[in-house]
Amino acid sequence: METSEIRRRFLQYFEDRGHTVVPSAPLPSPDPNLLFNVAGMAQFVPYFVGQQTPPYARATSVQKCVRTLDIDEVGKTTRHGTFFQMNGNFSFGDYFKEKAIEYAWDLVTRSQNDGGYGFDESVLYASVYYEDDEAIDLWKRVAGLPDDRIVRLGMRDNFWSMGIPGPCGPCSEILIDRGPEFGADRDWEAGDRYLEFWNLVFMQNIRGEGGGKEGYPILGELPKKNIDTGLGLERVAYLLQGVDNMYEIDEIYPVIEKASELSGRKYGVEHVDDVRFRVIADHVRSALMLIGDGVNPGNEQGGYVLRRLLRRAIRSMRLLGYEDPSLVELLPVSLEQMKKSYPELAADFGRISQVAYAEEEAFRRTLTAGTSIFDIAVRETKAGGAHQLEGAKAFQLHDTYGFPIDLTVEMAAEQGLNVDTEGFQALMKEQRERAKADARAKKAGHADTSGYRELREKGVTEFTGYQELATDSQVRGLLREGVAASSAEQGETVEVVPPGRRRWTRRPGPRSKRWRTSPSARTCRSRRST
Ligand code: ALA
Repeated sequence: METSEIRRRFLQYFEDRGHTVVPSAPLPSPDPNLLFNVAGMAQFVPYFVGQQTPPYARATSVQKCVRTLDIDEVGKTTRHGTFFQMNGNFSFGDYFKEKAIEYAWDLVTRSQNDGGYGFDESVLYASVYYEDDEAIDLWKRVAGLPDDRIVRLGMRDNFWSMGIPGPCGPCSEILIDRGPEFGADRDWEAGDRYLEFWNLVFMQNIRGEGGGKEGYPILGELPKKNIDTGLGLERVAYLLQGVDNMYEIDEIYPVIEKASELSGRKYGVEHVDDVRFRVIADHVRSALMLIGDGVNPGNEQGGYVLRRLLRRAIRSMRLLGYEDPSLVELLPVSLEQMKKSYPELAADFGRISQVAYAEEEAFRRTLTAGTSIFDIAVRETKAGGAHQLEGAKAFQLHDTYGFPIDLTVEMAAEQGLNVDTEGFQALMKEQRERAKADARAKKAGHADTSGYRELREKGVTEFTGYQELATDSQVRGLLREGVAASSAEQGETVEVVPPGRRRWTRRPGPRSKRWRTSPSARTCRSRRST
């Protein structure tokens, strides 16, 4: 079953049962504590906590999500993806545990001919929060599950929150036993054999600050008992499409095929190449969806996540041996798949692709400039018998060649080295302090701007540097340290203010730079002129 069909059936099923279909919220999170939406319930938080009255008592959605906490795991395991979609049904003080379990079980086990997903009941399990006897009774009564297919787990697995203060509650999950080739009998922790694919959260509490999945305090009860569920769309897709992992589903695999065709390398032969193929396919799709939702590459926050995803995809293509621009080949393949569920991506692809291709272009320049310096640094480090690249080298790569520290760390790891990131951070701090001191000094030094104002009153200087690199002009005035001057000597540093057109020429001789005016004007020499 195609991913877009799994999604369509979900929405249809719940719409038929009185749920309002709500579009996905955009990926950037409105919550300042989170960069991106990480769950379907995020847009409904004000309804859960009683801040707003919901316009409907039941809702259903397919939420676009990005989680990058485990970005380094992408491709290495079969379950870590950065972009994913979460199908959800929600009740705001309407139905609770019993109905939530009944709906989920029905949709999962209903035959495909009858609008369901047609899972074989005999391989399904349920996990519950260890003290939730009510849920255990319901799984027995509503789903007919025997005791040995219901498992009680602790807070870490079966109590859900967004990871920040807010609504939370005990949860119950549907798991599928994929068979002994995926792991040991009743090993719930490993996650590959007993794969959890639908989480039903009985959203009834509010949590406070606190670390980890189990260390936070429960502050009290929500005004009403609610339901928040999340069915992992990609997980259901790989289960129903008979493939091993999320990278091989219909929405993602064509990018792997394209990357294989371009690089001439085969998927499924070498593990290290497979990881690269999966990184490429996952990250290209995530980038498409992020740019589609208005995120632009940048050096901070969400923009940096996007930049990192694009750069990791591009580097992985290079590591597969493909050196040409690759997004121009891969992004349209991802679009072909994703537009089935998100037609707006096709309408906006001109803009999306422009953003992505410009970022690749910039990154290619960065790589060209910095890679040989990086290679020399690696050679020197290894020759000295060290296993750690000096912080000063990482700083130089960052400062002079624009290599983000993550890139240096990743590239060093590929060479079996780690990086002195503490040393790097210390140099970054020094640099920030120098820049601040510099800015303060400049501000003080140029506090008196009257010299500029006098010249400004004589007319506007026309800047033509976007159209040309040399031009003829006359000198309007000279400024020495911000003060008007009538002449300047060789070796002095002065500012030269032209009224309009001017020309820079180079004369033979060391560092000779001459500013030549038009024949009618007097010749004026700038810094270190001949
Ligand atoms: N909000 C729940 C989750 O993300 C359903 O797993």
